[in-house]
Amino acid sequence: MLRTEFISTGFHVPERVLTNDELRQWWDTSDEWIRERSGIEQRHWVEPGQEAGSDLALKATHIALERAGMDAQEIDCIIYATLSPDYFFPGSGVYLQAKLGIPGVPALDIRNQCTGFLYGLSVADAWIRSGQYRRILLVGAEVHSTGLDFGPGGRDVGVLFGDGAGVAILGPTADPGRGVLSTHLYADGRHAEMLWCESDASARFPRISHEDLDAGRQYPRMQGRQVFRNAVARMPESVQEALASHDLTVADVDLLIAHQANLRINEAVAQQLGLDADRVYNNIQRFGNTTAATIPIALDECVQAGRLKRGDLLVLTGFGSGFTWGSAVIRW
Ligand SMILES: CC(C)(COP(=O)(O)OP(=O)(O)OC[C@H]1O[C@@H](n2cnc3c(N)ncnc32)[C@H](O)[C@@H]1OP(=O)(O)O)[C@@H](O)C(=O)NCCC(=O)NCCS
Repeated sequence: MLRTEFISTGFHVPERVLTNDELRQWWDTSDEWIRERSGIEQRHWVEPGQEAGSDLALKATHIALERAGMDAQEIDCIIYATLSPDYFFPGSGVYLQAKLGIPGVPALDIRNQCTGFLYGLSVADAWIRSGQYRRILLVGAEVHSTGLDFGPGGRDVGVLFGDGAGVAILGPTADPGRGVLSTHLYADGRHAEMLWCESDASARFPRISHEDLDAGRQYPRMQGRQVFRNAVARMPESVQEALASHDLTVADVDLLIAHQANLRINEAVAQQLGLDADRVYNNIQRFGNTTAATIPIALDECVQAGRLKRGDLLVLTGFGSGFTWGSAVIRW
């Protein structure tokens, strides 16, 4: 039986760093408010108009390829998760494919927001186990900073988000005890409008109007408290379900990487699961919420820091707009 293993990982964030204090040029906010509510200290933003998400993903991919000792030509499939595609259509996967110089390789875009990397991992795992593809490049990449509301109504969302890209190169292993043991995905579209971007939209006619622009409907909007409440409930639930499906418990977990939306959310998740701080990894302090990129960025930092040894039990979990959420259990 084949399983899916992580061959290598990589990430890239833009050079430009914005501290909380620097955000005060646009918003009535403070370092104290942002740190206290979210744990965030800084985030990386692109030079506006200079770098697209697929450019960040390209740099992250080159790092992962070099670590794997692979050429881009060896990739036989791209799965690209993002809520901030370079263009409305086509998807960002084809732009990354062209930049990598590998025409013909299929490129699938995944639109599951903060859970995008987990949805992508689930698809990649199924394709690898079925033998359809042998070297899948799985990407989570976002450019939020070009789409934030820099007016007074945008501060609640604006201070939380960062730009970046994280990737993993996945392939088969014949060792049944290792690799991705399972993925567990969920969604509840009844809450779609609690965290969404209304316009431009094919559901509307015209897709975008001057009135929409004046009302700021082109910007992301969030009911923060509702999102918070659901995130702290759904992530631990899905971790418990994922572990139980293998007769494992939280005591077996060596490392939990949760989506990085808010340090307070992740502290509550760890507390509910009974996980001590040294079995949980957080980096939101330095990157903010990079949506589909947060899990692969955190994973790569853990790999590079030697936090994962062969045989360790790794659990990934995420929650986001949709709502969508899920978990993955991986024997490293
Ligand atoms: C966004 C979040 C940090 C806000 O924290 P909160 O404690 O719920 O704060 P509230 O939204 O109730 O706002 C409290 C006050 O701070 C103000 N405020 C909001 N954003 C602010 C900012 N950036 N700076 C200063 N004040 C701010 C509000 O206007 C409000 O003021 P009021 O009491 O005078 O009305 C929190 O709700 C959260 O993290 N939610 C989940 C976000 C998330 O996970 N998003 C992504 C999902 S993947």
